[in-house]
Amino acid sequence: PRACGTGWHPGGTAVCAVLFLGALPSPAATSQGHVSVILLGATGDLARKYLWQGLFQLYLDHASGGHSFTFHGAALTAPERGQRLMFDVLKKLSCPPDEPPDRCAVLKDQFLRLSQYHQLNTAENYTALNTEIEMLLRQEGLKEAGRIFYFSVPPFAYTDIARHINSSCRPPPGAWLRVVLEKPFGHDLESARELAAELAGFFREEEMYRVDHYLGKQAIAHILPFRDQNRQFLDPIWNRHHVERVEIVLKETVDAKGRTSFYEQYGVIRDVLQNHLTEALLFLTMELPGNVSSAGEVLQRKLQGFQSLRGLGKGSAVLGQYAAYGGQVREELQRAQGYVSTTPTFAGVLIHSDSLRWEGVPFLLTSGKALDERVGYVRVLFKNRAYCPQSGTLRDAGSSQCKAKQIIFYIGHGALNTPAVLVSRNLFKPVMPASSWKEAAFQPELHVFGQPLSDYYVYSPMRERDAYSVLISSIYHGRKDFFITTENLLASWEFWTPLLDSISHQSPRLYPGGVENQHLLDFEMVGGELAFALAEPIELLQPKAPTPSDYKTIQAKYRQSPLVSAWAEELVSQLASDMERAASSAVARAGHFHLALSGGSSPVVLFQQLARHHYAFPWRYTHIWLVDERCVPLADPESNFFSLHDHLLQSVRVPYFNIHPMPVHLNQRLCVEEDRGTELYAKEIAALVANASFDLVLLGMGADGHTASLFPHSENGLEGAQTVVLTESPVKPHQRMSLSLPLINRARKVFVLVLGKGKHNITSLISRVGHEPRKWPISGVSPSSGRLVWYVDYEALLG
Ligand SMILES: *[C@@H]1O[C@H](CO)[C@@H](O)[C@H](O)[C@H]1NC(C)=O
Ligand SMILES: *[C@@H]1O[C@H](CO)[C@@H](O)[C@H](O)[C@H]1NC(C)=O
Ligand SMILES: *[C@@H]1O[C@H](CO)[C@@H](O)[C@H](O)[C@H]1NC(C)=O
Ligand SMILES: *[C@@H]1O[C@H](CO)[C@@H](O)[C@H](O)[C@H]1NC(C)=O
Ligand SMILES: *[C@@H]1O[C@H](CO)[C@@H](O)[C@H](O)[C@H]1NC(C)=O
Repeated sequence: PRACGTGWHPGGTAVCAVLFLGALPSPAATSQGHVSVILLGATGDLARKYLWQGLFQLYLDHASGGHSFTFHGAALTAPERGQRLMFDVLKKLSCPPDEPPDRCAVLKDQFLRLSQYHQLNTAENYTALNTEIEMLLRQEGLKEAGRIFYFSVPPFAYTDIARHINSSCRPPPGAWLRVVLEKPFGHDLESARELAAELAGFFREEEMYRVDHYLGKQAIAHILPFRDQNRQFLDPIWNRHHVERVEIVLKETVDAKGRTSFYEQYGVIRDVLQNHLTEALLFLTMELPGNVSSAGEVLQRKLQGFQSLRGLGKGSAVLGQYAAYGGQVREELQRAQGYVSTTPTFAGVLIHSDSLRWEGVPFLLTSGKALDERVGYVRVLFKNRAYCPQSGTLRDAGSSQCKAKQIIFYIGHGALNTPAVLVSRNLFKPVMPASSWKEAAFQPELHVFGQPLSDYYVYSPMRERDAYSVLISSIYHGRKDFFITTENLLASWEFWTPLLDSISHQSPRLYPGGVENQHLLDFEMVGGELAFALAEPIELLQPKAPTPSDYKTIQAKYRQSPLVSAWAEELVSQLASDMERAASSAVARAGHFHLALSGGSSPVVLFQQLARHHYAFPWRYTHIWLVDERCVPLADPESNFFSLHDHLLQSVRVPYFNIHPMPVHLNQRLCVEEDRGTELYAKEIAALVANASFDLVLLGMGADGHTASLFPHSENGLEGAQTVVLTESPVKPHQRMSLSLPLINRARKVFVLVLGKGKHNITSLISRVGHEPRKWPISGVSPSSGRLVWYVDYEALLG
């Protein structure tokens, strides 16, 4: 044998790998050149479970044509021990059921001979590997086709490995390099950007294959082809007029035991939703490109899809954590007994797309550990407009229009225990590629989503393939449409990071795990947000937390007016109820309710409370006015109207003509005196509000004593006949429009909401001062014939 390094033999004798290339089935097999596959992390978990089997499948599929192969397993482990560990894995490779056993046994033997272990630790080790590959090719007279480096290593190791590959393992010109990267790709937008920038120094975009193994799941991989091949049926119904909702679900029964060092840093949203479920979401929501096989076209449509997604906030998600998780973290990560983890192991997230196609359709993404079943699916539920007056049996016979209409991409496990595509028979008979999907026969008594399988056209793959086999085959063929590009990755992090930031300190709801979860994790959509359907079981969550009965609302006086005080949440719900009562009595008395609302951050929680819990509020008869506005366009996030729209108006039904934003934007400019915006608003008030007396004005109090947009040491709006004024704020944006103090004081009711520790000093101060609006505009609030009520939370009142 020629000297050729550390080739090895299953029997343990070191032999030259070159020797065995001659054992390939036919000389033609090598005519297209040689492919070297280097698996980094060759003895790790992922490699053991999936990657070696995927590489073996690649070899089975291509041994008799095209390229010749060698497989190089690599790890930090010293050669002898590494070889042994790797061989233990290779021995157990299984033959797929559709493979003739004889052929498979022969090929497995060949595969083992073509596989070698390398210790890859130092720069020298990488150089040595490169030399070995070159030498092998030269000795066999083979042309090099390309090299695949599969990174099955923790992300902190990426940079070093990438540097070594770039500097000493690049194939010569004419041969390709493909590096395969496994998630996590960062843990937020910034870290993902850093990692991407770093990798971009070593590899070109087309050389990188970022794996999201969900894209290799047969049901997910078929979403786009399905949409493409069934355009004739889907074109009319794949939109907001017909789709009721979409559920994208991955439920697991396992927990995070043994993996908490990873899991504690990531949690379920980063682990599953940001990548797997988001990819499925985009396959459903993106506009179809002309050519669904073109990676470039798909990417462009996907990026547009990301652009249409509405931003997520705290209320977009419900979070849970299985009860044993905290203990597992403390044990595995050696944390102190009192350590409390807020990492969610369960999440439900409500996503909206603002595209014309999908506006208003809820997309629910759900995943969790320690749940009652293992299953994954994407379910599109269509609206049902029919009503069938027959009784049950008659209705169930035939393909009645009254049965649920749905399309399900069944990823696996669960009742079916196989990937499948299901289409309700009352929708259409789908076109499926006959070469890869077959109409499946299941026991008819099986039910999926409440319907017997006989209600669906059901298709399953001709040949079930593991996701990693699919992906490895795509890498080999250079098909990038199954992988996550840098742009795609960053778009996803850009979408998820604000939610992740907003919930980073939120305590998830604890759940016991398995079937005992019962209905604890059920959640519902209320006013554009998600909430658990059952009230928090307080004993389970925090044994020592105060129960709601410990809260009391203080009733007292502040500046000679009624004061209501409580913890913020209680206070806001009290205020919302009082507002609803005021509204109902105004409508009963006069047929309408004129409500003027302030901007700022305090009212946001109030608006959300009103949107979610006050169904009896007479919105139809309510006129909404603004107390003050910033001089920015109404669609600017800084605009008070924008915030009001986002947190309240879009969730309640106030007639359009009852909504009265302040005219700060006239003649394409903002708050210019000659445009007479203030007069315009004053006229509108005079025309609609009897005696210019609002039924209710809601105010806040600034830490400097300002209220509405009336600021200390400024004359504007504190007195005089002008009812609407332009003012200057000490903070940006400086220009404001505001109701004047005299106008506010004509109101029937004025409620002032003050929340948070930051307001404690001004709250104490204002309690002592007299009527000095020039120094503290809030002290000038004193309705001439109406009623003033202060709503001050404990933090503001007591510090
Ligand atoms: C890897 O490199 C180190 C340092 O250069 C060397 O000591 C070691 O023997 C190398 N391993 C192999 C398997 O060549
Ligand atoms: C990658 O290798 C090329 C060629 O050796 C070199 O010019 C470049 O600086 C390397 N990239 C990095 C980030 O080291
Ligand atoms: C679609 O894209 C694939 C991949 O780029 C290409 O092979 C195929 O020819 C394209 N089909 C059409 C009709 O352009
Ligand atoms: C109109 O408002 C003024 C000032 O608040 C008040 O004195 C007067 O009684 C009101 N008139 C009517 C008819 O409500
Ligand atoms: C409130 O007043 C106290 C005492 O005068 C002072 O130390 C503190 O910094 C003030 N806090 C704020 C938020 O202004």
